[in-house]
Amino acid sequence: MPWNSCQRRLKLLVIVAILSALVIIALSEPVLAQAPEPVGPPVALPHSSLTDPAIETRVEALLKQMTLEEKVGQLAQYSSGAPTGPSAGNADYPNMIARGEVGSLFNLDSARAANEYQRIAVEKSRLHIPLLFGLDVIHGYRTTFPVPLALASTWDPSIVEKAARIAAQESSAAGVRWVFSPMVDIVRDPRWGRIVEGAGEDPYLGSVMARAYVRGYQGKSLNDKESVAACVKHFVGYGAVEGGRDYNTAEISEHTLREIYLPPFYAAIREGSASLMSSFNALNGLPATANPFTLTQILRKEWGFPGLVVSDWTSVGELVAHGIARDKAAAAQKAMAAGVDMDMVSDSYHPHLADLVRSGKVSPARLDAAVRDVLRVKFALGLFENPFADESREIKGALPTERVEAARLAAERSFVLLKNSVAGSRPILPLTSESGTIALIGPLADDARNMLGPWSGRGRPEDVVTLKTALEQRVGADKIRFAKGGELQTASDAEIQKAIETAKQADVVLLALGEEADTQSGEAASRAYLNLPGRQEELLEKVAATGKPVVLLLFCGRPLTLPWAFEHVPAIVAAWFPGIQAGPALVRVLFGDVPPSGKLVVSWPRTIGQIPVYYNTLSTGRPAGGTDLTHPPLNSVEKYLSRYIDEQNSPQFPFGFGLPYSSLEYSQAHVDSAKLSASDNGIHATASASVKNTGSRAVEEIVQLYIRLTGTSMEEPVRKLVGFKRISLAPGESQTVSFPLGAEAFSLWDMQNKLRVEPSHVQLWISPDSSRGLPAELEIVE
Ligand code: BGC
Repeated sequence: MPWNSCQRRLKLLVIVAILSALVIIALSEPVLAQAPEPVGPPVALPHSSLTDPAIETRVEALLKQMTLEEKVGQLAQYSSGAPTGPSAGNADYPNMIARGEVGSLFNLDSARAANEYQRIAVEKSRLHIPLLFGLDVIHGYRTTFPVPLALASTWDPSIVEKAARIAAQESSAAGVRWVFSPMVDIVRDPRWGRIVEGAGEDPYLGSVMARAYVRGYQGKSLNDKESVAACVKHFVGYGAVEGGRDYNTAEISEHTLREIYLPPFYAAIREGSASLMSSFNALNGLPATANPFTLTQILRKEWGFPGLVVSDWTSVGELVAHGIARDKAAAAQKAMAAGVDMDMVSDSYHPHLADLVRSGKVSPARLDAAVRDVLRVKFALGLFENPFADESREIKGALPTERVEAARLAAERSFVLLKNSVAGSRPILPLTSESGTIALIGPLADDARNMLGPWSGRGRPEDVVTLKTALEQRVGADKIRFAKGGELQTASDAEIQKAIETAKQADVVLLALGEEADTQSGEAASRAYLNLPGRQEELLEKVAATGKPVVLLLFCGRPLTLPWAFEHVPAIVAAWFPGIQAGPALVRVLFGDVPPSGKLVVSWPRTIGQIPVYYNTLSTGRPAGGTDLTHPPLNSVEKYLSRYIDEQNSPQFPFGFGLPYSSLEYSQAHVDSAKLSASDNGIHATASASVKNTGSRAVEEIVQLYIRLTGTSMEEPVRKLVGFKRISLAPGESQTVSFPLGAEAFSLWDMQNKLRVEPSHVQLWISPDSSRGLPAELEIVE
């Protein structure tokens, strides 16, 4: 090349380099040095022993002794017992285990079964590597707590932690040292049946709950024989499946992924979750089980996750159906490359991985990394020292009182009072000794099985105290008139007629209606209609037509669209699936022994056509505000607002909503600084408001703190939750509730997908739900 042209190119290169440097400087405004919640760089894992150097030494020593086949064996997981997915066929597990071809088994149902398999692994396999037994322990093992959506509605992480601890004690007694929980998928679409398994629509609340589960499961040390490894799932975007149809595709921008969907995962991992499960769904065109951006870039590189990544049930093999792998060998290659360590059930790694390594399609280094992740968890759990479950720890007779009480307290706090109108001189609820004869009606009034909810672990209907039993204990059977009113899905005219007659004989009616736990809620239970199944709505309307005051108790795994009921039925409680103490907990709340204190963790839609409806929405350029714009005439501004012509934008009940038996007065929020500096890492302020119980009954209130940032580089939600507190107020009492605000409350993901605090205008609400209150204001300056 002639010298002149060389010089010209050199000059051009220098100019381009200088310009790029300038652009980078201009774009990179100060990024927070210290990682704020919800997401930031790798951090120490306080509750995890996974990063213990002594474990690493043992992992390396063992790895050196392993053959290629033995390594692959550690990455294979199978279900032995009642399947929790499409049936996987039955392999000869005892011989496979003896040959070192199985790393983990799940779905076993007793310590004895686990110990039998474990004996083969530690006595017959060449390297004596113990098996890791897993199970879907989602809201309890035997002591069944309310479903996770209900647990989240307590807004009480100490309850969740306690539930998870009890679940860990019971699971570990059965040899299960690995639970596939917590599910932290953010959900904005109640058609998706799995909304019941998570903490609802909010990333902040979801993160608080995620941490509480992990603390409960893993305790102070994984090595404690009563601790189990948590498995945070489903990574990622599963809660955003299109149309709420299970296993469907999700499209989520990187910005929204980081703002909304990733934070609870990060929170669980910061808390030390020993494992993570990849999800079924395609995310932005790439199945999550083959997604290196989420599984390697974010999870490993950004977050420094040292734990085990397991696929979901056959999700490795399903890469073929997704169309990105021609066969299971190619599926195994892609899942491994993306970062999935263990293949759950699909039998793709077991037959193909050794060949893939031999042919160079999977590198030995990647294989070793995956095996390390498995061994690390096994060592951390102390399985090499204590591989066997202590069969004497399994509960033989009745459940211990302390656990039953924990389940009752959780249920009591999870109920959300949605409506409580005045009938006569006072609201219908709470019931009193003067409430008279009670008609107890409905297919769920005396149904033990459904109270357990979906994914009820090893929960047993015989442990459940139903509403009917508890009510009879409370007021005496002579005060109760009972009619089932049919089944959940069907009812005869005669059954409905009998229910009407029963209602007529009483002073007040308790109607226990809802969904069927296993078939209408949970996995593979997406619904296109969110009404009450069968003839239950007809039953409701006919019973209400008797003119008797009706209290509707909704047992469900999601909000149900019941516009008629919300207009005409005077009192309504969302009772979810409350677990073994369904009856006693409900009775205590219905009679006011304890106040109702649950609050919604999902916006409750008026109609399916509004879905997705969630509180932390973006404003749009034509926000409609809170007014009802469904009645013409509208002026030309109103007409062109972002709205439906035939339904309000607002949900039936907003996120955070739940009524007390008393009345409350909130003062306007106040912040102690009017101005904060964005570049100050120690940025903090205190927000406070006073809350007064102006009624005549004691209250447990969940005080919520929301903010909105404007003037930011990216559009921020119209409100987002950044804090909450549970307080108790006696009648007439008032309390000042304060929230410290750190950088994390004000940070946002910017255009470069960096988390930082930007100069902005801040509005801040302290309110009883996401729709009310007058904001305080402050400025964040450069
Ligand atoms: C579910 C997971 C569960 C797994 C094992 C899958 O179908 O999506 O949440 O942990 O099965 O039962």
